[in-house]
Amino acid sequence: MNDTITVCDKTFRKYLSNEEIEKVIDGVAEQLIADFKDCGEVPVFLCVLNGAIMFTAALMKRVNFPAELVSIKVSSYQGTTSTGTVLIPLGLTSDVTGRTVILMEDIVDTGNTLMALREHLLNKGAKDVRICTMLLKPDVYKMDYKIDYIGKKIPNKFIVGYGLDYNELGRNLPDIYAVTD
Ligand code: IMP
Ligand code: MG
Repeated sequence: MNDTITVCDKTFRKYLSNEEIEKVIDGVAEQLIADFKDCGEVPVFLCVLNGAIMFTAALMKRVNFPAELVSIKVSSYQGTTSTGTVLIPLGLTSDVTGRTVILMEDIVDTGNTLMALREHLLNKGAKDVRICTMLLKPDVYKMDYKIDYIGKKIPNKFIVGYGLDYNELGRNLPDIYAVTD
């Protein structure tokens, strides 16, 4: 059946359709527009590569206020588990000194990545860091830090698609799939 796929050695079942994902992103865009439309400054969308590429692109097309795009690459996952160590193999593609940065994440799991990146951005001179994530696993999130914009909360299941990968595969899937075993 079309709803079940194999990526590497694991089976996944369709969990969120592209249509549902688009609606989730509409909701986030509305909140960002309410907060930034007349804020008097040009915020920076920071795309956390590679996972947030699709979310960032879809979201930026929906906002009607001036905004810049900067990227950074981090890695912490091996297979289906977080290693807990956040590496930055590609640093900020532009200077963020004095800027309000909207940190764009595909998914927040333990929160290690966002806390490490927030610290990194403040050290690089960012004025303010807002966190915006397409998905959140609330049962795993262990930080005492409020996430500003959350698209959708999901159970603690490993997922792929719409930018999210399993061993670098599955990012190109238009829908999101959850592992079955
Ligand atoms: P955290 O540091 O534990 O919050 O993990 C955040 C990063 O791990 C995300 O930006 C993703 O790249 C990756 N990640 C977390 N959960 C999943 C998942 O279910 N599928 C694919 N990648 C995930
Ligand atoms: Mg990511």
